[in-house]
Amino acid sequence: MSSTLELTYQDVAEHNTKKDIYVVIHDKIYDCAQFIDEHPGGEEVLLDCAGQDATEAFEDVGHSDEARETLDKLQVGVLKRQPGDPTPKASAHVASGSSSSNSDSTGLGIGVYFILLVGGALGYFAFQYMAKEEQAKTGAA
Ligand code: HEM
Repeated sequence: MSSTLELTYQDVAEHNTKKDIYVVIHDKIYDCAQFIDEHPGGEEVLLDCAGQDATEAFEDVGHSDEARETLDKLQVGVLKRQPGDPTPKASAHVASGSSSSNSDSTGLGIGVYFILLVGGALGYFAFQYMAKEEQAKTGAA
């Protein structure tokens, strides 16, 4: 068993039955034929991604470190990515736009605080002024 065996998606796709099942996770190829019956998450989910990229499915579940150790034992090779092959979403989405929108909302947050502060201060002074007026009136009467 060598971890330097390189297979393409096409090669991996041929291993798509319960007795002969490969999955790709983070560009590594795992032989799950022996493991499928032991999988705590059941055989269905593994069969669903038999011969395919299971990176997203695997990460979505939030597998434990123990599960990742099991992975090491099942590795049979690495994926040879070819032009046009799909890349797993789990590693592909870098949220470049969200940082700027984050700072936008921080700006808005500060603006709201500022308005509340100024509004509060104005209200306070207006109240003081009116109280004084009232006092002056009652004093005069
Ligand atoms: C060869 C790859 C995989 C290995 C070695 C593996 C291993 C494990 C292990 C050890 C657990 C027990 C909980 C834990 O330690 O995190 C588990 C649970 C689970 N796995 Fe996987 N898993 C693999 C692939 C997948 C895939 C592709 C899916 C697809 C969705 C999946 C779905 C689940 C689910 C739903 C559970 C939770 C079961 C429960 O808590 O009732 N697993 N897996």
